Amino acid sequence: MTDHSKAFPEGVHIDKVSSAHAQVLEALHRTSFEKPWAAPEFAQLLNHPGTGGFIAFNARLTPLGFILVRSAGDEVEILTLCVDPLYRGQKIATSLLNSLVADCNSRGGVKIILEVEYNNQPALDLYERCGFGRVGERPEYYRKRGKPSGAAIIMAYS
Ligand SMILES: CC(C)(COP(=O)(O)OP(=O)(O)OC[C@H]1O[C@@H](n2cnc3c(N)ncnc32)[C@H](O)[C@@H]1OP(=O)(O)O)[C@@H](O)C(=O)NCCC(=O)NCCS
Repeated sequence: MTDHSKAFPEGVHIDKVSSAHAQVLEALHRTSFEKPWAAPEFAQLLNHPGTGGFIAFNARLTPLGFILVRSAGDEVEILTLCVDPLYRGQKIATSLLNSLVADCNSRGGVKIILEVEYNNQPALDLYERCGFGRVGERPEYYRKRGKPSGAAIIMAYS
């Protein structure tokens, strides 16, 4: 069972994301993904009711990572999650996920779902460690030019 009362790593604080963070989200996303999303995409997403998330900063207010989700009814889908490589391995993603889980628990009866590439071992380990379980698989979900496509593992927390 995940301990949601666990404190964040020293000096780290977590805020709710808003469209005002769009440029920062783009910069963080670029540190972690081959095809990063642009600031206007983040702003557009976050202007939709039901889209939100959490962003982590250190004591110097350096942005470290974020999680973005979309809620529909009693289901919350994780759209993206990343931590700047400079700050990985310090439980930043764990803190972001714990914030999300605590927020969902406070609303009651909310299921969190996500899709992750079958060979993204750090993410699979992270989610399993945070209490998510595998509930399905979508074959050939991730298409990469010139490379074989990869399956998506569907995971859920409820
Ligand atoms: C996956 C990611 C968010 C993890 O961020 P992080 O802040 O380093 O993760 P944490 O420090 O909270 O790690 C918690 C657990 O996740 C697992 N984990 C994290 N990084 C790992 C790695 N490189 N290899 C194996 N397991 C790893 C471990 O179980 C770890 O627990 P431990 O430190 O006790 O071993 C980060 O590597 C990242 O941004 N990757 C690129 C983007 C991505 O793949 N996002 C997920 C898409 S669904």
